[in-house]
Amino acid sequence: MPQIRFPKTKSQILIFSCMAVSISLFGCTSNSQKSVPLAELKRSKEGMVVSAHPLASEAGKLMLEKGGNAVDAAVATAFAISVVEPFSAGIGGGGFLLLGTPPENSETQQYKIRALDFRERAPKAATRNMYLNEKGEVDKRASLDGHLAVGVPGTVARLYNVHKYYGKLSWSELLKPAIRYARDGFEVSDIFVSRLERRLEVINKNPAARDIFTKDGEVYQPGDLLIQTDKAQTLETIAKNPQSFYTGKIAEAIATDMAKAGGLITLEDLKDYTPIWREPICGKFREARVCAMPPPSSGGVHLLQILNIVGETNLQKWGRENPDTIHLLTEAMRVAYADRSKYLGDPDFVEVPVKELTSLSYAQKRREEINLEKVRRSSEVEPVSPEVLRSHIWESPDTTHLTVVDAERNVISMTYTINGSFGAGVVTAGTGILLNNEMDDFAVAPGVPNLYGLVGGEANAIAPRKTPLSSMTPTIVTENGRLIMATGAPGGSTIITTVLQVVLNVLEYQMNAAEAVSAPRFHHQWLPDKLMLETGGFSEVTVNELKQRGHNVVMRRGWGNANVIVMDETGILEGAADPRGEGEAMGSGE
Ligand code: DON
Repeated sequence: MPQIRFPKTKSQILIFSCMAVSISLFGCTSNSQKSVPLAELKRSKEGMVVSAHPLASEAGKLMLEKGGNAVDAAVATAFAISVVEPFSAGIGGGGFLLLGTPPENSETQQYKIRALDFRERAPKAATRNMYLNEKGEVDKRASLDGHLAVGVPGTVARLYNVHKYYGKLSWSELLKPAIRYARDGFEVSDIFVSRLERRLEVINKNPAARDIFTKDGEVYQPGDLLIQTDKAQTLETIAKNPQSFYTGKIAEAIATDMAKAGGLITLEDLKDYTPIWREPICGKFREARVCAMPPPSSGGVHLLQILNIVGETNLQKWGRENPDTIHLLTEAMRVAYADRSKYLGDPDFVEVPVKELTSLSYAQKRREEINLEKVRRSSEVEPVSPEVLRSHIWESPDTTHLTVVDAERNVISMTYTINGSFGAGVVTAGTGILLNNEMDDFAVAPGVPNLYGLVGGEANAIAPRKTPLSSMTPTIVTENGRLIMATGAPGGSTIITTVLQVVLNVLEYQMNAAEAVSAPRFHHQWLPDKLMLETGGFSEVTVNELKQRGHNVVMRRGWGNANVIVMDETGILEGAADPRGEGEAMGSGE
């Protein structure tokens, strides 16, 4: 079995231990001046897989070397993540995937980009006020812990769907590494243990979760072998018949467990689950075409909105860490997250003004409101009214992340999750499936912040079968029919701004993959009105200047665990995994 590369230094462990956003977003602060080490840069002419865990990247690389394409490699990597990084994503959750296929003639045609929504959906019995008590107060834990927090999972349906249309290798072949990791076990890392410690109390309340993820109720130690026999069995069942998750034995186990424990998901919910192919959101930044996920993720809309607000501003000339650059981007982030709170939701339930929000004229209006000398308080930055927004016409058609590019330059950028660390802390007895707590991504009540401090209203209210709003931002950037880069990240509300900065690092600052994914980050999300700066990443002069302009600066240890593949001008692929995590880039044919 390949060796796992654990974080090498204590500072890396510290950095990562703050990345699990199952704590208050701004609660993990530090004054220590450790900066993030540079990621390892891998290069390959053939193909590249980057994921959040070396064993998962290894699974994908194996598929490329067996003659599989990017889809085969992504499916194998995703199933493996479900076993070796069970706390972050898996078959009990959902997410979004972008698939890019190269044109026959790159001189005249563009990459074809498709977007697959396999996000969890609210069960049919879900109601708007399901997390309020008799007094109308929000029960904060109910949307996070236990069976009521779980949305109908989409991961298995999606992996099967994308493989059916685009895969080359047999379906059962793709599950083999994951089954092996589950059956034979793998060594748990410091990161696994730190997440487990934080969720131990909830996990210990669920006997099936306790049996698998603890040693008689105590945490595993780094280096201990974690064997998941039930999950191996479940994956074998899925390898024979993926539909069993939705209509067969696995579905019955989930529905029975839900009924017993007060959850809402029924056999009918599982049977009715379907992933949805959607039109990606694409826009232009400089000469590049940036494509990302449309609603029900907010990622694509706000990534493009912020890039549009930057517009022609020469950030390269200003410099990446210049207070003017950070100030402008922060003000653009503030506006984007304000609009997110009002307008973004499931497009099958509410009208989302995507074209207006991503229009150049709207960006121009918002840009003009920004004063480079002085910060605006978030209370002064309201989402605009629908009437004002409607006057801006769109001008032109246009929690773990993994990125794969194959020899034909097909590309997969996929972010998926079970939401908070260890999801709802619930395993369906006998299946090994750890279920998500994605219902918390709804606005459980107007103005009540979710796990990531995000607030929302009507557009993201709970309704039966509705999809909760996401920030996941799998992204593919091309130029004149040629791949430039693909990227994405976990991190709740910070996902959009992490992806934004990785994209700018490559497009604007011409960084290579390793530099782009390692560079220090900052984040603002309108509410709370705080500018998060990565500890050790910015000079005292910059920090003081930002404070001077009125920013409420909060220093925070690293977040994001992004990964990226960049294709250079000679066609060579560069891959890098975030040094804040334990992921790895692996080139095929090396
Ligand atoms: O969909 C979303 O926006 C969140 N459920 C993502 C969760 C996440 O990134 C957890 N990360 N550390």
